[in-house]
Amino acid sequence: MRTFAIAASVAALALGLVGPASADPIIIKFSHVVATDTPKGKGAEKFKELAEKYTGGKVKVEVYPNSTLYKDKEELEALQLGSVQMLAPSNSKFGPLGIREFEVFDLPYILPDLKTLRKVTEGPLGAKLLKLLDAKGITGLAYWDNGFKQMSANKKLVSPADYQGVKFRIQSSRVLQAQFKALGSLPQVMAFSEVYQALQTGVVDGQENTWSNIYTQKMHEVQKYITETNHGYIGYVVIVNKKFWDDLPADIRDQLSKAMKEATAFSNAQSQKENDDALAEIKKSGKSEIIKLTPEQDEAMRKAMEPVYKDAAGRVGQALIDEFQKEAKSTTN
Ligand code: LMR
Repeated sequence: MRTFAIAASVAALALGLVGPASADPIIIKFSHVVATDTPKGKGAEKFKELAEKYTGGKVKVEVYPNSTLYKDKEELEALQLGSVQMLAPSNSKFGPLGIREFEVFDLPYILPDLKTLRKVTEGPLGAKLLKLLDAKGITGLAYWDNGFKQMSANKKLVSPADYQGVKFRIQSSRVLQAQFKALGSLPQVMAFSEVYQALQTGVVDGQENTWSNIYTQKMHEVQKYITETNHGYIGYVVIVNKKFWDDLPADIRDQLSKAMKEATAFSNAQSQKENDDALAEIKKSGKSEIIKLTPEQDEAMRKAMEPVYKDAAGRVGQALIDEFQKEAKSTTN
């Protein structure tokens, strides 16, 4: 029986019935730290669907959500080593890699709305920033939105004075560190996957994140108050290992680029809705009280965070901050 099977496969090979067409697919491991039911999670699934379709199965995309493969910092190292091919880290995550310019996205109130953000990321400024990744063995493919950040804690955060002495989890970003220091808080760097437990056990008192991240990580269940500050932005750069990308057959790379373009449009078109829906679910749960700021309270928060700009100028560069602010001005005027 066995002899027959071997003979049959040899014959099939000779007849050209099997061969290169049945070659192993190219595997793209796409790792990320958030839930599938988020703007990034859905974008990754969309890319998988389109990439596999356009390449006719020659590429297989394996998506690993929720830090199942790697936590924040480890995932970038893994990409550089080639253990994983694709990631979508938040802009903040590139500072520790030595590309400080990306921390400009962390500046409080730098981007008034998603329209301005899009102008930046889809224009020459966005392209210039992506190019900076090359030197680290990384190719930047696209910008994906999450949305604007809110502040949560177990106490009411209304005026800047309320932030005094509060321990906040932050992503590893010097700009975010300066932001909380300006408010008199105690910032603590921590991986995203550890935030829920840290809030639950009181290792930290509060955190800042988007509605979709707060909801899908159940942070609202362990935070009594969430203040609608919209003070900062979380977005992502979809990146690949440069060598892996450059070594792909040109036709495959083109099909993957097409899939990425469409997945980006899909993801960015529904990010706002994802966050709106998450906010509605949090409200419905009744677990966290949502606090809205008056225009005066909002103004006081902006004022309290102003010193962050001066601090950041030395790191991300005043010229880059000016370019961002110029875009913001031209959109709102
Ligand atoms: C965070 O670490 O808070 C976020 O950047 C996680 C993410 O990828 O949205």
